[in-house]
Amino acid sequence: MLWTTVSLSFEIFTKKLRSDKEMCGIFGCILKNGSAAPIIHAALKRLEYRGYDSVGEATIENGRLFIKKDAGKIDVVHSIRNLDDLPGRIGIGHTRWATHGAPLQVNAHPHFGCSDPPTIAVIHNGIIENFAEIKKDLEDKGHIFRSKTDTEIIAHLIEENLGQGDLKSAVSSSVERLQGSYAIAVISAKEPDKIICARNESPLVLGIADNAFYFASDTPAFLPLTNKVVFVENGELVTLNDEGFEIKKLVDGKPVVRKSRVVDWTHEMAEKQGYPHFMLKEIHEQPRCLRDTLRLQDKYLELLTTFLDRARDVAMVACGTSYHACLAASYMFSKLSFLATHPVIASEFTEQHGKSVNIDSTILAVSQSGETADTLAAVETARQRAATILGLTNVVGSTLTRVSRVYIGQQSGPEIGVAATKTFTSQLSVLSQLAIRLAKKRGKISQEEIDLLDEKIEKIPSIVERIVKTQEEKVKTLARKYKDNQCFFFLGRGISYATALEGRLKLMEIAYVPSIAFPAGESKHGPISLVELGFPVIFICPPDETRKTLIGNIMEMKARGASIIAICEEGDEEIIGMVDDYVEVTRGIPEILSPIPYVVPLQLFAYYMAIEKQCDPDMPRNLAKSVTVK
Ligand code: AGP
Repeated sequence: MLWTTVSLSFEIFTKKLRSDKEMCGIFGCILKNGSAAPIIHAALKRLEYRGYDSVGEATIENGRLFIKKDAGKIDVVHSIRNLDDLPGRIGIGHTRWATHGAPLQVNAHPHFGCSDPPTIAVIHNGIIENFAEIKKDLEDKGHIFRSKTDTEIIAHLIEENLGQGDLKSAVSSSVERLQGSYAIAVISAKEPDKIICARNESPLVLGIADNAFYFASDTPAFLPLTNKVVFVENGELVTLNDEGFEIKKLVDGKPVVRKSRVVDWTHEMAEKQGYPHFMLKEIHEQPRCLRDTLRLQDKYLELLTTFLDRARDVAMVACGTSYHACLAASYMFSKLSFLATHPVIASEFTEQHGKSVNIDSTILAVSQSGETADTLAAVETARQRAATILGLTNVVGSTLTRVSRVYIGQQSGPEIGVAATKTFTSQLSVLSQLAIRLAKKRGKISQEEIDLLDEKIEKIPSIVERIVKTQEEKVKTLARKYKDNQCFFFLGRGISYATALEGRLKLMEIAYVPSIAFPAGESKHGPISLVELGFPVIFICPPDETRKTLIGNIMEMKARGASIIAICEEGDEEIIGMVDDYVEVTRGIPEILSPIPYVVPLQLFAYYMAIEKQCDPDMPRNLAKSVTVK
């Protein structure tokens, strides 16, 4: 097959990759000769930033499958099982970020069907939304499942379909039934000379070398081996064999001709998919994360809602950004479900509530890492007093998931930047979904309001996408204009107070700018004494019930010479006409969902202020991603 390569502009290439969202890393190779296992192992190490709670490999030799997999980081599993020691020149590998099923060996990929010894091995990156119904169908046909993962159903589905044809047609008819996102790869002991891949939404790229062919979730996996890349698009099926690769459309089997492209990236650039920092990449990938957060498993949302519905008093316990999510949630639960909750800063919980928490208490602990010592200590205080512990975390298998009676994983994928961005908006999405479910269960708001919320929450990912696309340049300009200011106010009313707190934390922690956030109504009770000519005050002003009084707060700041920056609704001429600068957010967002889109300009502002001040947004001084000490 003739390879025509075209050099690829940096911009085009980044656009190709920027639709990606980390969840897991997949890789595989077909070598003309030599051993595949060490190549797979090294490639998975280069994909570790995509997920790192379990790892596995499968190779083929003499018509036999060889599999090694376990829970744990790659280096730990390698030290125990030696991931380089598998025979064969063809193989696949997977590094996992658990969403369905805790990080246990049984849930690690590859997965296989019923046959023993296994004849097919499957690896997958993505979320299968309809896995429960497919699993039921297959169980009714006698399939026995080992794991709790959504991926395993793909292996059994292919095994079921193998009866009607070869591996390629079995994979093709299997993925037709899948709903959700997937990038999968399959090898079979019965057709040992090929690898079949298929893609929908989750990323998949091919690497073309003189004596080997590769596939991966992302180019860093094989960049040291080849810089010739072929992108696989949604709805395409790939067959890799000794001669090369063949791409077909899943919908009609039509062949696809696609040029390979040369990528002149460093490994580190590729990990960030062209973004200068992980933080900016993670701000940009929020739409994808928010889509994934809308694919949470119904049964866990329902279970959590039931516990909240029965609760007599609910303390939401968290630190930092996660606390801001809890504060926003307290408005959601109160306004939608008439559920009284109280957000508590975890490090204060034992002092504040240690004596009063009891068997009738419900604790909702929110922690992206699931390992924050202050949060776990608060949970332990409550557990010792027989309170019910509920958990919301991004890390399935973290300590918080083990100490919670019920938990839900927010499915944001690994967040590398120390500053929480995509995990914050995902937390807000999960919490608003819970508040809406509880509202339905309790019947406290009109069906019309519920229909509007159901409609708008589905649109949040594209609303965030539009804000990033249309407002990023403006925010960059504002950062340049205000880069020398020494202190900022962040003000909001109602649920926007939580948004103000989060915007302030972002600016402080990555641009090291002292900032103060408080409910706008508090200004006259003291803080306004700080305001002098040109003092920057950022107002979060969605058109909700607080708007009128907020305008009064804007006027009182203006009267003292403050420079006003408003985060307001698109085309809100009244606000725009009274402020010095503004950033616009899409119209028609319901109040309880407003923190998600309204925080995005504040995340970008903090990021670009850090750039203006030559700070490293990914690794701010004195901070760690997960504070596992009290
Ligand atoms: C957020 O940008 C900070 N990195 C920090 O406040 C963080 O939110 C806090 O440490 C809580 O972390 P957790 O969500 O992992 O518990």
